[in-house]
Amino acid sequence: MSAAPPRRGLVLGASAGIGAAVVAHLAGSGAEVHAASRRGTCPVESPNVVARSVDVRSYREVRGLIEQLAEGNRLSFVVNSAGIGSYAPLGEDHSEAWREIVETNLLGTVHVCSALLEVDVELGQLVQIGSLAAFRVSKTPGNAIYSAAKAASSMVVDHARTLLRERGTRVSVVAPGFVEGTEFGERFFDRVPQARRPLYQPGQNLKPEEIAQVVAYVLETPPHVDLTELVVRPVGQPD
Ligand SMILES: NC(=O)c1ccc[n+]([C@@H]2O[C@H](COP(=O)([O-])OP(=O)(O)OC[C@H]3O[C@@H](n4cnc5c(N)ncnc54)[C@H](OP(=O)(O)O)[C@@H]3O)[C@@H](O)[C@H]2O)c1
Repeated sequence: MSAAPPRRGLVLGASAGIGAAVVAHLAGSGAEVHAASRRGTCPVESPNVVARSVDVRSYREVRGLIEQLAEGNRLSFVVNSAGIGSYAPLGEDHSEAWREIVETNLLGTVHVCSALLEVDVELGQLVQIGSLAAFRVSKTPGNAIYSAAKAASSMVVDHARTLLRERGTRVSVVAPGFVEGTEFGERFFDRVPQARRPLYQPGQNLKPEEIAQVVAYVLETPPHVDLTELVVRPVGQPD
């Protein structure tokens, strides 16, 4: 038997891609969703959606947003889908891209986990969007630092799980393989256009809505079920 559906929560990285699909799914099933990103916009038109601005690279901003949402109210869920990837191989100067990848994917996760612990918020569940790339060095060219940041962020989430569990918060990682139709893939080579090449076979990958369905499933499991880590890959993606 399923628990009651989640009612009120925050999705980080909600202006595009997987995050926007998660917002659409959860708002469509009746939840009040605060949809945050640097742009502060969300493509989902629904009275259940409130667009918010936040840069996860700033601890002050993340804590401020969580403080605001925590006031007087329980948060059923936080989904952290804020992340970036870009072509940035070793052996060339990609220092700006390396910094941005680590600050967004790793430090952003540190900020979310720490703010959830620092702020006095009663939270049901945290779902982190991880990556298959966290489990071995990514086969995507120029993506090794992203792999490293995602692996380290999973470690941070593992640590946060042990602390948040004491407050009754369940913590899950949903780790997708290739997901097409997001800005991640479209922008991957923006900084180095001469390196541009097809990232993956169109039509043979996961869709953002499919990851949103998995996130919704995780959020709807009964309170005693701890879905720690779910790797979701398209059948055709090589190991
Ligand atoms: N696409 C894939 O194949 C794939 C595979 C595995 C894992 N993932 C992971 O899935 C997550 C979502 O990626 P996606 O494919 O949906 O990419 P996407 O379409 O580019 O969406 C990324 C989202 O993160 C937000 N974001 C980026 N930097 C941010 C920051 N500093 N502060 C707040 N929000 C920020 C973006 O909004 P703003 O630009 O407005 O801030 C956007 O809403 C990421 O964690 C990514 O690593 C993606």
